[in-house]
Amino acid sequence: MSETSIVKGVDQTPWFPRKISDLDGFAEKVLEMGEELDADHPGFKDEAYRKRRAEITRIARTYRHGQPLPRVEYTATEIETWGAVFRQLQDLFKTHACHEHQYVFPLLMRNCGYREDNIPQLQDVSRFLKECTGFTLRPVMGLLSSRDFLNALAFRVFHSTQYIRHQSKPLYTPEPDVCHELLGHAPLFADPDFADFSQEIGLASLGASDEDIEKLSTIYWFTVEFGLCREGDHVRAYGAGLLSSFGELEYALSDKPERRPFEPSKVALQKYPITEYQPVYFVADSFKDAKDKVRAFAASLKRPFSVRYNPYTESIEVLDSKEKVHHYAQTIRAEMSNLCDALERLAQHHA
Ligand SMILES: [Fe+2]
Repeated sequence: MSETSIVKGVDQTPWFPRKISDLDGFAEKVLEMGEELDADHPGFKDEAYRKRRAEITRIARTYRHGQPLPRVEYTATEIETWGAVFRQLQDLFKTHACHEHQYVFPLLMRNCGYREDNIPQLQDVSRFLKECTGFTLRPVMGLLSSRDFLNALAFRVFHSTQYIRHQSKPLYTPEPDVCHELLGHAPLFADPDFADFSQEIGLASLGASDEDIEKLSTIYWFTVEFGLCREGDHVRAYGAGLLSSFGELEYALSDKPERRPFEPSKVALQKYPITEYQPVYFVADSFKDAKDKVRAFAASLKRPFSVRYNPYTESIEVLDSKEKVHHYAQTIRAEMSNLCDALERLAQHHA
């Protein structure tokens, strides 16, 4: 596949990764919070903490696709901080987390070392997720741009920090840290519908205009970070920003904030604060329903080409030529025949 055929007639298309190893190029492109801390960060004046962060972020800077994720030997203080968060949240999950999170959490305890006295290793969690849904984790130094971060989701890759918040405030962090990633995000990526939903946002972000990236990252914010979903008569949380924050998790399910049905075209335009609790949350009927709605929304965005992810080559195919579309159709035909065969056998079995 030549590079020129991909961008035929779409010269204005922003660059996007075509193969999974292209994500290596994001390693150094961190916007903030890598080794540098803001003056109001709880660890700002703590030299030892800053040194430790630099040590851990070095892993993300040098990591390349295909390598095992380096293990971090966490200190007793770091484990204590994790334990404080873990204890607080574990009880609340039973009543506030969505069914999918509750289903996966015990599996993570059994398979990935989720315990009060142990910070799980990204490598173990990543391997587990890969077996469940094909999602993998990649270490990241700090915040990526929305475009880079969302683009990686198209490959079922989630960028995860590996350092932990400052010990002086175990229940507060101004940024993602390993507690947020592993307690909030990781469990959901083991769910097939949620994995599909996340990848759908990622695929829509490839080569999207800046304006559309803004819309997609707002949708990401109100779903993957702060999403609520309906479960019978109840509303539960599936957003990682909620599932990793004791205070906001309780608040989001109280009668204080406003709750609206999840409708991507409206969500995409919703303004939101980033340093305080959300005044508005959006409630999805299910991940599957949210995925279908996001797919329809993505189709409404102006992008002069279609893409699909090829899981065998771990690459993005731009469907911009007859041959590629034909090959895609053949793939679907083979799948369809397999599906019909399975249906027939099932029918015979139950006859
Ligand atoms: Fe997050």
